[in-house]
Amino acid sequence: MSVGVEVEVNVDDENAESVFGSRWCCRICGSECEKLLDFGRQPVSDDFHAAGDVDSEYFFDLCVGICSSCSMVQQMYEVPRELMFNADYPYRTSTSQVMQRHFQDAAQRFIETELNGTDPFIVEIGSNDGVMLRTISGAKIRHLGVDPSARAADVAAEHGVKTHVGFFGKETADAIRVSHGPANVIYSSNTVSHIAYIESIFSGVDSLLTDDGVFVIEDRYLGDIIGNTYLDQIYDEHFYLFSCYSVREMANRFGFELVDVEPLVVHGGSLRYTLARCGSRRQLSTVERILAEETERGINSREALDRFQSNIEQTRDELVCLLRRLRADGRTIVGYGATSKSATLLNYCGIGPDIVSFVCDSTKEKQGLVTPGSHIPIRAPDSFRNPYPDLALLLAWNHRKEIMDKEREFQRRGGRWILYVPSVHIV
Ligand code: TYD
Repeated sequence: MSVGVEVEVNVDDENAESVFGSRWCCRICGSECEKLLDFGRQPVSDDFHAAGDVDSEYFFDLCVGICSSCSMVQQMYEVPRELMFNADYPYRTSTSQVMQRHFQDAAQRFIETELNGTDPFIVEIGSNDGVMLRTISGAKIRHLGVDPSARAADVAAEHGVKTHVGFFGKETADAIRVSHGPANVIYSSNTVSHIAYIESIFSGVDSLLTDDGVFVIEDRYLGDIIGNTYLDQIYDEHFYLFSCYSVREMANRFGFELVDVEPLVVHGGSLRYTLARCGSRRQLSTVERILAEETERGINSREALDRFQSNIEQTRDELVCLLRRLRADGRTIVGYGATSKSATLLNYCGIGPDIVSFVCDSTKEKQGLVTPGSHIPIRAPDSFRNPYPDLALLLAWNHRKEIMDKEREFQRRGGRWILYVPSVHIV
């Protein structure tokens, strides 16, 4: 297997800017990257504190650029992983019915296509509360989740899902291979792009995957992010913003081949990438088709990020102006969904409790705390209804249909939703 070059680790600290300037090394191939997007100081997006305990919040410079060689869009500074992912990580994949169905479908597909041989085995990197592996476990197929969140693993165990609590890497993969044997499928949804030290992921996959196995990655898609001005998809955890082109380059560098790509509707637009060992599988025509679309749209370019930057600034200016005007008119505004995404939106736009009085969220672990950096109180969804606000800022816009269906009464009583993607508008 080929290995990536050694690159400097740009861990954020107060002197980082003076040490590295606005240029840095690509974490995948070591070529030069240039800072193109700058969101200023941002908090750890899933680090929710009590109102009286915000002094210890960690902030870092959220800056993004593109590699001049492999075109990987990536952040300039890396937040230490233990600050983002630990026992208290509050995100629970199964809070959305739509996501539950998405993962059931993914599991069912694996059972029918990849896990139909003798005594198959699947490993999931970033298995969270086991929402995908529940279906696998129900089918009595050998499985193992790997996730650093002990609390999420406890929830998974209640559903019959086994989890190794820790970070995935070469050492963990070697230990799993010794104890369980090789894996026919290694799956990872919305996790690989979170991992700056990606070489250790690929060397772990190389060690654990069977010769004809598949490594399947799902992640938010750069084409949708730029095309719809999803400014809030940029936050600490999304270290890389993947495209078909950059994932193909990354796979090749680490001895794998991109053999299939499938567009997904989740999270406002994602891609499911199927990687296999070089020469072990036939490449499907979807790969060339999506690569050609990317070339035509020019999304793997500096110019695309420059356009994205000006659209981001327009969204920020229009949203802040709208919210201030509504508040000046005495209208009440509540946020819906204390998403990690919203950390960037709220902090970049300077939206605090003076504008949005509280954010409601169904995740028990977040209720009673405040939003990172912007310090807006988080309450249970009941608060949304008692009484209804005049307007709701839909921070969990990727669950728009599910939430609007559930909250039909809000609109029936004259309430309006404020959306900021793909542009600022009220519905
Ligand atoms: P999500 O948008 O999936 O991800 P991220 O945090 O990565 O941006 O998070 C959805 C959040 O919205 C989560 O905290 C749960 C909350 N939520 C509700 O409060 N009610 C709902 O009906 C749904 C679907 C989500």
